[in-house]
Amino acid sequence: MDISFTKADTLKNHPKDSTLGFGTIFTDYMFNMDYSPEAGWHNPRIEPYGPIAMDPSTMVLHYGQAIFEGLKAYRSDSGEIQLFRPKDNLHRLNKSGHRLCMPELDEAFLLEALIKLLKIEKDWVPSAAGTALYIRPTIIAMDPYIGLRSSNTYRLFIILSPVGAYYPEGFNPVKIWVTTEYVRAVRGGVGEAKTAGNYAASLYATHLANQDGYTQVLWLDGVELKYIEEVGSMNIFFVVGDELITPQLNRSILAGVTRDSVIKLAESWGVKVVERKISINEIYAAHAAGNLKEVFGSGTAAVISPVGKIKFNGKEITIGDGKVGPLSAKLFKHLMDIQYGKAEDTFNWIMPVR
Ligand code: COI
Repeated sequence: MDISFTKADTLKNHPKDSTLGFGTIFTDYMFNMDYSPEAGWHNPRIEPYGPIAMDPSTMVLHYGQAIFEGLKAYRSDSGEIQLFRPKDNLHRLNKSGHRLCMPELDEAFLLEALIKLLKIEKDWVPSAAGTALYIRPTIIAMDPYIGLRSSNTYRLFIILSPVGAYYPEGFNPVKIWVTTEYVRAVRGGVGEAKTAGNYAASLYATHLANQDGYTQVLWLDGVELKYIEEVGSMNIFFVVGDELITPQLNRSILAGVTRDSVIKLAESWGVKVVERKISINEIYAAHAAGNLKEVFGSGTAAVISPVGKIKFNGKEITIGDGKVGPLSAKLFKHLMDIQYGKAEDTFNWIMPVR
């Protein structure tokens, strides 16, 4: 399929790298493609970034049949632009789509489209340390229909946003809040899909956490309200004794690409990594025994985010004096060094945009 290109009449001013936060600035162009049962995925095009006209009855607005991905393009010291494990994100997009009854995509074609878009927008990739061009592929249900069923038509789009740190705290430890009143996902639900509804379901408890002075919610499982699942925008890791423990993938946790990279990197350094069920009580007991050394989250937007405090059942614990732990710091630096082309890419995770 040929990808058409429509030139913008005017181009936007680029922000200074030092002013970048997360998710408010968008580049000049976006990629669009449509799906209908008759034509399949068709009309791939790169067009000026702009609104999507839709009927008020468009299905995504009513039933949330929407999926998305998050990945980043980095500018290396030599000025080259590179993607980190893009095939894994595009594959996960298809997996989320399957769960949400959406038509399958040609992942190789989507990667080709993304690379074409990035080549056009290459000057938008910031270069300061910790900055990147965040990439948000999204698919939404487009039928103008308010009965409940899966849509027949879809729009896929990719938008790009130059970003700095996700949290206002930067790499400083964040405070997380555990609730036993609200859950993010349940057994048999859509927890492992990257779908809009999971994030909508998290908002109210996050609002309560924020009101109590915490950045995000640490979710427990939706069945027993005991076992740790993930944090609002990231997966979670605990250093207990000399083990690095993370909740096992149980179909209600997002299978994070950064999570997988952390596991592989830590194992390659000889760290014992354990994926298993881990309860919040066990974490509190490890803390009481002096064995809870570090806690950190991982995600594309958050990269590695150290956790300094956890509050559960009204009791707050401080991890490692509230400072960044050595393994969190080493993982953060090494992951970023690979992403920015400063460290050898021994796992073949980098794809240059040429
Ligand atoms: C990402 O880390 O890319 C995400 O999609 C999380 C989102 C809440 C920013």
